[in-house]
Amino acid sequence: MSKQELETTAQAMVAKGKGILAIDESLPTIKKRFDSIGIDSTEGNRRAYRDLLITNPGGNHYISGMILFDETIRQSSNNGRPFPQVLIDQDIMPGIKVDAGAKNLAGHPGEKISEGLDGLRERLAEYRELGARFAKWRAVITIGDRIPTTGCIEANAHALARYAALCQEASLVPMVEPEVLMDADNTITRCYEVTEATLKTLFYELYRQRVTLEHTILKVNMVISGKKCPVQAGIQEVADQTVQCLLNNVPASLPGIVFLSGGQSPELATAHLNAMNAGYHNLPWPLSFSYGRALQEPCLKAWAGKVKNADIAREALLHREKCNSLACLGKYSGDMEQAA
Ligand code: 13P
Repeated sequence: MSKQELETTAQAMVAKGKGILAIDESLPTIKKRFDSIGIDSTEGNRRAYRDLLITNPGGNHYISGMILFDETIRQSSNNGRPFPQVLIDQDIMPGIKVDAGAKNLAGHPGEKISEGLDGLRERLAEYRELGARFAKWRAVITIGDRIPTTGCIEANAHALARYAALCQEASLVPMVEPEVLMDADNTITRCYEVTEATLKTLFYELYRQRVTLEHTILKVNMVISGKKCPVQAGIQEVADQTVQCLLNNVPASLPGIVFLSGGQSPELATAHLNAMNAGYHNLPWPLSFSYGRALQEPCLKAWAGKVKNADIAREALLHREKCNSLACLGKYSGDMEQAA
């Protein structure tokens, strides 16, 4: 892929009114999701569920790319066609999660480092052969008593930058994801501080590793109150703080920024994205979505592991995709939920 193609891919990922569907849950995470609907996490059930998500008619109006898991990129649809090909047939770009998970960071109680750099060059070459056009690496930053530490932020930013450089060498667009978790009792102000420190360090490391920003997508948390914080910031405040934090810390040359949902309800994740796009015009980058749970939750519940529920499950997914597509344009309204 030429430099021009990397740029085109990155821009297509955040094309107007389109976003990314993350279906790259690791084996332990998909087991948790399947436990919630009482089905076993077998290879067959995982393939059947992902088939439903990948082959949803009409999804390509709202979805530019899907992030797959290592197992999924090697599986095939009900008609025998490999999943990456099924996506390309629909003009949806296949992506792949390439970090090997967040492990305890030695010497840093309560903090994590994402592993997976060893052998990454070879794995990226194989994924590209299998059809991947972009890759994702998630780093986890935890807020707590005297954490995050600078040591943790720097170690994760360095790994993200090493991964991003390898992706560009392999002609894959890196989606760099530093996720400040929203599970604690911190205020939105604390989330702002930690997100800012993380982004500043990340872009410094990307520079040090000679990563081309024009060929990179940022996937990040919103600036938001911790789930256990007694005072929850409202929709407009989340939008304002998030946009301000991004304006202060993300270079304008980046082709786009997408958000993770991080445990927000599907409706709230959509409302936050909409408030940003409705309230702020002429930002340097498009703001879009790369949600996992906030797109999948209603679909997963409706499906419940039963073939007979496939149609309502697909409808539930399409509804969330459409709402988030409208949120990218600042044209979503809560009334669309009642109509569903
Ligand atoms: P959530 O939207 O469920 O947070 O997941 C997105 C994702 O891909 C995290 O890496």
